[in-house]
Amino acid sequence: MIQKPKGTYDVTGKLGLEVRYLEKLFASIMEKYNYKYIRTPVFEASTLFHRGVGETSDIVKKETYDFKDKGNRDLTLRPEGTAGVVRSFIENKMYADSNQPIKTWYMGSMYRYERPQAGRYREFYQIGVEVFGDTDAYTDAEVISIPVNFYKMLGLKNVKVMINSLGDQESKEKYRQALLDYFKPYLDELCDDCKERYQKNPLRILDCKVDKDKEFFKNAPKTIDYLNEPSKNHLNDVLKYLKAMDIEYVVNPNIVRGLDYYTQTVFEVEAFMPSLGNQNVLCGGGRYDNLVKNLGGPDTKGVGFALGMERLLEVIHNENIELDKEEVDIYVVPMDISCKDKVASLVQYLRLNGFVVETDYINRNLKGNFKQIDRLNVKYIAFVGEEEISKNIIKIKNNHTKEEYQIKFEKLIDFLDDLEVDDHEENI
Ligand code: HAM
Repeated sequence: MIQKPKGTYDVTGKLGLEVRYLEKLFASIMEKYNYKYIRTPVFEASTLFHRGVGETSDIVKKETYDFKDKGNRDLTLRPEGTAGVVRSFIENKMYADSNQPIKTWYMGSMYRYERPQAGRYREFYQIGVEVFGDTDAYTDAEVISIPVNFYKMLGLKNVKVMINSLGDQESKEKYRQALLDYFKPYLDELCDDCKERYQKNPLRILDCKVDKDKEFFKNAPKTIDYLNEPSKNHLNDVLKYLKAMDIEYVVNPNIVRGLDYYTQTVFEVEAFMPSLGNQNVLCGGGRYDNLVKNLGGPDTKGVGFALGMERLLEVIHNENIELDKEEVDIYVVPMDISCKDKVASLVQYLRLNGFVVETDYINRNLKGNFKQIDRLNVKYIAFVGEEEISKNIIKIKNNHTKEEYQIKFEKLIDFLDDLEVDDHEENI
């Protein structure tokens, strides 16, 4: 038997319902925020990620799926969404749009060659947001509010917003020097990767999985102590707006994020869930004021985040949150095979009028249909037989109260509307 590749999974059955529920809920939140959906390719030129995510990040150095296509082009399966969206922003000249800022959201599969474990896959699904334009600290707070509201609407408890600042370019330079000075006496004790990071990008030493438990790491300088005045003000403003939005947070100077493009605000939302181990970070993001320029675009600021679907589902299952509200408005029962064309026409008519409709696909008898109705969560049953057809009526039964009605075909939709049969939550 051919099996799925290591680190991947299938979405089937109940999981399929849950995933669709989450996607639709997020899409409905994005409508409220007036963010626009964007979709970019799953593979991009490899250089995009080298220049965007960063040569020294583990993601690019060790975890990308790189390949050459038949035209000998160097391509990479996207390890994250930001670089592709920035490329699209530049290529489609969105910076020239008079309607600024450009507020986008996306969802899709990302690929990282990591060691699979709970909450960590090689193909995983992210939902994310990127905002471009000359935005101030309010936008950082708004972006943070998106996953917070999403998790709140889902009823997640025990989630914590952690926030930090890397500062602007000047602060980052000062901090870089402080790291070089600090780690210099320990150079021999660092792993080979960190020795290289020391030369190229000392910030990346801080997320080394090999060295991170070494005693001297504990006293390494913190970004927050190297912020210049404008950077401090920016962080304080973000915190002020978060307070105004009633969003709780913890300033955590250890958050540096594993991607190279961040400036100023960085944040993560953590779940308290021991079974997820180190994979308890549900989402992460921050500001990247130089990325658009570094990728060849005009000097444009950006801020965004991405959340992982798998870890979210893990928490949802762990907290026993029921998402799948699968409900069938009407189950149409053919009383006889000779009535199936009338059934086909009724099912089509009801679906076009917005109802969730099920019917018999495998010519069950009446008893078999009732058994199937018991398996589904059905609100109303419609019976279509010779008698009903000859009288031009439909027999309807409320599957919960067992009340029965006989309705003229032309009056059916009005009747069902009055009963508010299709009272599904808007957009969900
Ligand atoms: P990231 O922190 O690398 O950030 O990933 C964001 C989220 O994706 C993580 O918090 C986690 O939930 C999920 N995730 C990452 N890797 C895996 C994996 N191997 N298996 C399962 N879930 C995973 C970014 O990707 C940035 N692009 C976020 C961003 C957007 N920053 C600014 N804009």
